[in-house]
Amino acid sequence: MTDADLAATFLSIGAEYERSRPGFPVEIAAAVAPDRVKRVLDLGAGTGKLTERLISRADEVIAVEPSEPMLAQLRRKLPQVRALIGTAEAIPLPDAVCDLVTVAQAYHWFEPEAASREIRRVLAPDGRLALIWNGPDPRCAWDSDAHRIAHPAEDDDDADAQALPVLDVPGFTQVGSIRVSWIEEISRRTYLDRWLTVSTFLAATERARTTMIGQVEAVLDAHPDTCQKDTLQLPHVTDALVYEAGT
Ligand SMILES: C[S@@+](CC[C@H](N)C(=O)[O-])C[C@H]1O[C@@H](n2cnc3c(N)ncnc32)[C@H](O)[C@@H]1O
Repeated sequence: MTDADLAATFLSIGAEYERSRPGFPVEIAAAVAPDRVKRVLDLGAGTGKLTERLISRADEVIAVEPSEPMLAQLRRKLPQVRALIGTAEAIPLPDAVCDLVTVAQAYHWFEPEAASREIRRVLAPDGRLALIWNGPDPRCAWDSDAHRIAHPAEDDDDADAQALPVLDVPGFTQVGSIRVSWIEEISRRTYLDRWLTVSTFLAATERARTTMIGQVEAVLDAHPDTCQKDTLQLPHVTDALVYEAGT
């Protein structure tokens, strides 16, 4: 299964993603756009979970996203946002029109050279790029166990997980990073449904998916913080990496 195959799994979901994926804390939008900007582009916007946080931070918010089902959810929820089908590698906007480009949970799907060239092209002079990821809080044992089922190949190094990330983006210099810790109250059902929207579950055979979900249920049944609970307190860590064009 290639990265392109995993990325393509997003083309078919929209409603499930909107229903079950976490949003973003207001603090992260305030941190990446401390002063109100004229125009922000949310790239790989999905159903608009970060986009909605940007509305109070900009005169105009534009969303670009390749998946029509995802964008249909965004248009329904946020009619005031200009929602365009497109990709990071071919952004359907003229040159130098955005003060801020945000990318939430999506940069790893982009082709880095082509995407960064396009982001530089649409950014106004002095414009900024913010890459944002919601991540699990490694201090939460039951959620970490579930992550190991979904991503068995990933490095399980708590020290690394707790460090603020550094990521090279071609043609950009990282000028800051922000971390926000927050707790989401989530039903057990939604937590399980959320795993079904994660690319490794979407790309698995039905049999493998059923086995993996059974393993996550077993984790919830076994842990004192989650067993026999309909509502779970799920900690998250949201990181934003901020860049300016130029190296
Ligand atoms: C995990 S979702 C994140 C959606 C949204 N930003 C959020 O945080 O909820 C990843 C998104 O990236 C989009 N995507 C994948 N490849 C892309 C590309 N080359 N250019 C732009 N978006 C892309 C997918 O369609 C999907 O909506």
